[in-house]
Amino acid sequence: MIEIRHLHDGNDVWGQMEGLAKVLVDCVEGGASVNFMANFSLDDASLFFEGVADAVDRGERLAFAALEGEEVLGTVQVILRMPPNQQHRGEIAKLLVRRSARGQGVAQKLMAAAEAAALAAGKTILTLDTASEAAERLYERMGWTRVGSIPDFSLLPDGKPCASTFFWKALG
Ligand SMILES: CC(C)(COP(=O)(O)OP(=O)(O)OC[C@H]1O[C@@H](n2cnc3c(N)ncnc32)[C@H](O)[C@@H]1OP(=O)(O)O)[C@@H](O)C(=O)NCCC(=O)NCCS
Repeated sequence: MIEIRHLHDGNDVWGQMEGLAKVLVDCVEGGASVNFMANFSLDDASLFFEGVADAVDRGERLAFAALEGEEVLGTVQVILRMPPNQQHRGEIAKLLVRRSARGQGVAQKLMAAAEAAALAAGKTILTLDTASEAAERLYERMGWTRVGSIPDFSLLPDGKPCASTFFWKALG
C-alpha cells in the first residue's frame, strides 16, 4: 500500500528527514539532474530538506512524501512563494522516486496530490522544468503542455551539460 502524505509543517518534514534524504541521494547517484553534483552525501541531502522544512513552516512550499509503511519511496514539492504579480502561479520541484520503487505509479500519485493541494492553496497555473524523459512522459500523460527545451540548461551530476524541457498546466 502506497500512501501519499502531505507534510503539513516543518515537524512533519523533520519526521521523514532520513528517508527523504535517502531518496534524493539515490536519485543523484542514479544520474538525475536535480540541482546537485556527484558525491552528494546524506548530510548534504539532509541540509537541503532542512531548508525545505523551514520553507514549509513559512508557507512558501508544500511538501509530500510517498510512503510504504515507514519507508519513503518518493517525494515532491510545490513552490508557492512567487513575486507579487504571480501569486496565482506555483512551481513543481524535486519530483523524486527511489530507483527501486519506479514504474509502479508513485510519481503519478505524488503529482496528483501536489496538483490538488496547489489548487486548494489558490494556484491556478503550475509550471516546471525537467531533464528526465521518464518525467516528460509522465507530465504529458497527466495533461501538462510542453513548451520547449533549452539546451545546456544545467549539468548532470557527472558534469555533462543537459537540456531542460519546460511544461505548464492550468488547474481547476
Ligand atoms: C521521473 C520519475 C519521478 C518517475 O517516477 P515513477 O514513480 O517511476 O513514475 P511512474 O511510475 O508514475 O511512471 C513511470 C512508468 O511506469 C509506468 N507505470 C506506472 N504504474 C505502473 C504499474 N502499476 N504497472 C506497470 N507500469 C506502471 C508508467 O506508465 C510509466 O511508463 P513509461 O516510463 O513508459 O512512461 C523518476 O524516474 C525519478 O525520480 N527520476 C529521477 C529524478 C527526476 O529526474 N525527477 C524529475 C524531476 S522534474
